[in-house]
Amino acid sequence: MGILSKNSLLKFAFGLICLVSPTLHANTRLVNTSEPKIQNHSWSKPNELVVSSMDLALSVDMEAKKIHGLVSYQIVKVGKGKKKSKFDLLYLDAKKINILGVYSNPNKKTALPYNYASDFKNSKRLGWQKGATPIWKFEDDKKGVSSRRSGLQDENIDLFGEGLVVLTGTNNRIVIEFEAGLSADALQWLSAEQTHDKQYPFLFSQSQAILARTWIPCQDLPCVRFTYTARVYVKSPYNAVMSAEKVGVDYARGSIGDVFTNTKKLVWKNAYTDFKPADNTVVSNWLDYPFDNSTASGSVGTMGDLLICYRFAQNRPIPSYLLAISVGDFRYSSYRFTEDKNTKETGVFAERGYLEECSKEFKRLPELVKAAEKLYGQYVWGSYRVLVLPPSFPFGGMENPVVTFATPTIVAGDGSLVSLLAHELAHSWSGNLVTNATWEEFWLNEGFTNYFESRIMEFVFGKEYADLLVNLAYADLVKTVEEMEQDSLGRLDTRLVLDLENRDPDEGVTDIAYEKGRFLLVMIERNIGRENWDLFLRSYFSRHSFGVVTTQGLLAELKYFLLKGVSYSVSENRFIPNEIERNPAPSRLDSIPLSLPSSVLPAGELKDYWDKKYRFCSDFLLAIEKGWIHGIGLPYDGIAAFPDIESAELLRVDGIASRYWSSGVDKLEGDKVSEKGVADEAKVSGINSSINQGKIDKMDMPEVMACEFHRGGSTRRRDVLTLDTIHFTAHHWVHLLRRLRSMGQLSVNDMEAMDERFHLSESKNSEVAFEWFMLGLKCQYMAVFPYMEQFLLTVGRRKFVLPLYEQILKTQDNGLDMVSNIFYGASAGYHSVTRKSVSELLLDYRR
Ligand code: BES
Ligand code: ZN
Repeated sequence: MGILSKNSLLKFAFGLICLVSPTLHANTRLVNTSEPKIQNHSWSKPNELVVSSMDLALSVDMEAKKIHGLVSYQIVKVGKGKKKSKFDLLYLDAKKINILGVYSNPNKKTALPYNYASDFKNSKRLGWQKGATPIWKFEDDKKGVSSRRSGLQDENIDLFGEGLVVLTGTNNRIVIEFEAGLSADALQWLSAEQTHDKQYPFLFSQSQAILARTWIPCQDLPCVRFTYTARVYVKSPYNAVMSAEKVGVDYARGSIGDVFTNTKKLVWKNAYTDFKPADNTVVSNWLDYPFDNSTASGSVGTMGDLLICYRFAQNRPIPSYLLAISVGDFRYSSYRFTEDKNTKETGVFAERGYLEECSKEFKRLPELVKAAEKLYGQYVWGSYRVLVLPPSFPFGGMENPVVTFATPTIVAGDGSLVSLLAHELAHSWSGNLVTNATWEEFWLNEGFTNYFESRIMEFVFGKEYADLLVNLAYADLVKTVEEMEQDSLGRLDTRLVLDLENRDPDEGVTDIAYEKGRFLLVMIERNIGRENWDLFLRSYFSRHSFGVVTTQGLLAELKYFLLKGVSYSVSENRFIPNEIERNPAPSRLDSIPLSLPSSVLPAGELKDYWDKKYRFCSDFLLAIEKGWIHGIGLPYDGIAAFPDIESAELLRVDGIASRYWSSGVDKLEGDKVSEKGVADEAKVSGINSSINQGKIDKMDMPEVMACEFHRGGSTRRRDVLTLDTIHFTAHHWVHLLRRLRSMGQLSVNDMEAMDERFHLSESKNSEVAFEWFMLGLKCQYMAVFPYMEQFLLTVGRRKFVLPLYEQILKTQDNGLDMVSNIFYGASAGYHSVTRKSVSELLLDYRR
């Protein structure tokens, strides 16, 4: 360690001025923007008016599949003094929501003029004073399905919604009454049959990236943050969670339909209020009136249903994509642990009949939380909890603050898939605390989170295990890049910062953001040393808390940090990892000029040092910018080259795969190999990392051998006993199966023998089952089909569903029929996100 102590460096890093920090207020430009416009996937104009807090009242009717809601916003005009915004039009995002009215007060007495942004073409404030012509309306109240008024067929409206504009006048608060039902793309309303316990319907939301607007009118873009409170009204015995702390519960008797329309009829009795925010902020809810007419005492009576009101508060400002709700018959089980002599808790929500299993599965959760805090600082969201959803949840996990939503496909029985929780937990820093300014820089959320995830995994489970996971991810990345590079437009999306104008941000959800992003950080870590890198990251999370970040801002800060914080070797022209800068930097380096004038350099030897170091830092950052940020594919050369990735464990698996592949005896009149399979082999891809990095000779590549066997008309009956799977984890299996798939086609007999020995068709591990199905399809192993079909009919996790349908189309002669048939039966049970992706796949295929 150099002259500067860690502590002092940290302090100076804290003091660092954020050079290119895109705070909302800083870049306020007052242009006349009466004309509505979609920018950054949103109708809102965060340079004019922003919402700073939100109060919600939502009654959730699980039978009618409808949310009736009031949302109240506190509005802030952007800018100070003369520069203060003069606008009084609040632009919000709204899509397929039924807007019932906009008011200046919760008593709904004073209506405010509003219109759909897409209808509002000029600043003439006439003709729409009485409110908008509904674009969306519920045609059939029972089904809650809505349809759009004809005449508005713009593609952008399909994607971004019709938007809402409200004439706020002098009001700094407004109230919107609305309904959201089956047409809300964020919401999935599940029948009892689609749940684990099969007893009660279930509801969950998925707001990221731009679906929050389908269930709450809001400023739906990641750079606007607001706090919120909520009251969620349900019928007993439903439980509810939101991305906020539960602060109390009230009871009443009556009908759920009375909550808004017959408020006087319901007598609410306060069951408990148990929330004392650590920072003593007052939890106030502007919507208290008209709902708190009788809390505290009295009886709720005996007539009608037992109604429950759950009260929530999120005292920390969040962006809209982190708005979340779930209602179902789930319960909570906690883990208590001590940290720095304090007792803390974390825990799991799951349906009653599933709770014990889930709680066992995630028993190492407290260790993950502790590790994360040790690495990058305090967890600021109160408790960390996980809600296990029914299998249709379209993602592995979603980092909703306070309560991560997770797929049940990670409940494998042996805790083997908890890295997903490490990932969602890590988002409590990267993403939720420090947020990508726009979806074009999504890699700042996911790349950082992936990096953080593997650090947590290493902390808790050791380096070998963490390396194994990283290596698997690397293989995925290589394959993705190979595929994307084939396509003239797709190749542009291999850059870290994307151009997503007028595109669904969902198109940016690829391995690029996740994995190329992660490996950029791994590369930096290797160059400057982990100690230094952690110092930077801790400071980054702390300086940008509750703020937004951009790639340019990150690079500027990095340059500053490298110059002033990390030592450099003149003779080797590189950083000296883990060594803190010991030479006092010329003070004028602070301003980071584009080219360093010699006048700022000190005299003598130090002049040479700083001259060279400055040039090296500039080159390093330029290489990052050119190769990683705006470069196509993966940068394998130069001073910011892709890091070497290796895992001894996976190399071991590679050996096992090769031995198995060439085991057994040649068999002339062998098993049938379909033409399609052979053709497939010609474009074998997904080459393992060790081959890619030149560690294995190309001639050893079994796919070459495989092709030769088939060409000669012979196949080999392999010896399943050579598969020495002792100490195999699920990840070893995943790698083995992928590796076999990349090698070529196994015969049906080989597949059968493996299935008999390892029961892979019946695997309870979703990752293993998925890989087995992919291999089975390729090898025309029909026995796997019923299992795969069952999987596709129940699981809606897009990461599995989409590649399986793709593989069917690719490998089966009647692929299109098969996919159409399965999708016909399954699509009603998928969340809109998954349904949309599969529909697009089919459209592309038919084209
Ligand atoms: N935030 C994402 C999920 C997401 C991304 C939803 C973009 C909508 C739009 C979440 O943190 C995530 O990355 N989930 C992964 C988990 C994984 C990488 C461990 C998933 O769902 O597979
Ligand atoms: Zn993520």
